Amino acid sequence: MSRAHWCSRIGFILAAAGSAVGLGDVWKFPYVTASNGGGVFLLTYVVICLTLGVVLMTMEMALGRAANADAVGIFKKLKGGAWPLAGYGAVLSCFLILSFYCSVGGWTVAYIGKTLTGSILTSDAEALRRDFDNFKAGWFQPVFFLCIFSGLTLSVVLAGVQKGIEALSKYMMPILLFLMLILIVRGLTLPGAMAGVSYYLKPDFSKLTPRMVVDAMGLAFFSLSLGMGIMLTYGSYVERGINLLHSSLWVISLTLGTSFLAGLMVLPAVFAFGFNLQEGPGLTFVTMPAVFAQMPGGSVWAVAFFVLLLVAALTSSVSLLEVIASFLIDEFKWSRRRAAVTATLGFAALGVFVSWSLGPLSHWTLFGKNLFTLLDFITSNLLMPLVEMAIALFAGWIVWPRVEEELTNQNAKPVWLAPMRIFVRFLAPAAIALVLINGLR
Ligand code: PHE
Repeated sequence: MSRAHWCSRIGFILAAAGSAVGLGDVWKFPYVTASNGGGVFLLTYVVICLTLGVVLMTMEMALGRAANADAVGIFKKLKGGAWPLAGYGAVLSCFLILSFYCSVGGWTVAYIGKTLTGSILTSDAEALRRDFDNFKAGWFQPVFFLCIFSGLTLSVVLAGVQKGIEALSKYMMPILLFLMLILIVRGLTLPGAMAGVSYYLKPDFSKLTPRMVVDAMGLAFFSLSLGMGIMLTYGSYVERGINLLHSSLWVISLTLGTSFLAGLMVLPAVFAFGFNLQEGPGLTFVTMPAVFAQMPGGSVWAVAFFVLLLVAALTSSVSLLEVIASFLIDEFKWSRRRAAVTATLGFAALGVFVSWSLGPLSHWTLFGKNLFTLLDFITSNLLMPLVEMAIALFAGWIVWPRVEEELTNQNAKPVWLAPMRIFVRFLAPAAIALVLINGLR
């Protein structure tokens, strides 16, 4: 059977960006930046995305196109031995991420409802925090909404409406960006917002710590969908003539741009309303309603915002489920239906406990972390870097001639190829190793 191909370069870039742009940018980036010192974190993050991020994403796409197979199959086909373990690690990452991603996806669904009823449109920071804390600590409500989010993800993957969701995200993503610009303007004009702008944009180098660099790299992998077999798989659907370096630069610019705007949308408002910078995962959810409350027609803006956020989250969760499903289909010869349904039941079941770990089961901790933060940590700071390490070593040392072939346009060898090789062989593994060591301490 011949494998699928993207219809066009722009289709490929949009699909990859659809996977990358998601809750990682609008939910995770603002709170991780807030609790890690602001400007200096932003600067570190940008540098990591534009160096390590660009190179690793290009490598993933190149390996995918060279092998023309799924995440595990790529390693089997190009070399074999122990290398396919990296592919298994990627599939496991996807599963674990989905188990907490569906909780947060559920929050967006719940907040659409809450804003429709207008119950949270207030600029009383204390009330908003209390409301969010009560909501996420419940036994029933968050589980109900995470099931809805998981069901939506499943139905998209089952219906195979990739085309539908691609077309949808083509229109929804620009609208989300436009809406964010309006919210930024509103946020910036609030009294006290400028302190947030300077916290966000002025780096304070005394806050630069190894721990912070680790977090920045983990967030970069998460937000760029690296180390999870996604760019590998998407790369395998790309036609020969398409320039992979340019494509990855596009995807990274779009994602980085969204993250940057999300920070600018949330942080000034956090200062204006006096929220706590260490608020953690709830930051976007408690801050934005306070901004909406300050706008004429606030509930309309709020509903639009959470609907668009839901779509952004779905294009990401669909890509995660797709990796697991195609793995089960290829390796165990399952039908698409059986694969997708089983995987969904699995991650949603784990997701229920992840959700409870923020409330009724918060006393279940390991290394001082509840299940939610533990899974986030294991995936972002351990599994994804490990898989990325394998990808860098594999591309740089084992199959470089194949990678070079993928990156060379017909005849001319680009000048950046030699420095890139050094980067892939030495610098990238060294940087990732430092991150792993620091993450384990
Ligand atoms: N990058 C997505 C986001 O920012 C999350 C994601 C991670 C999606 C890994 C796919 C793979 O929300």
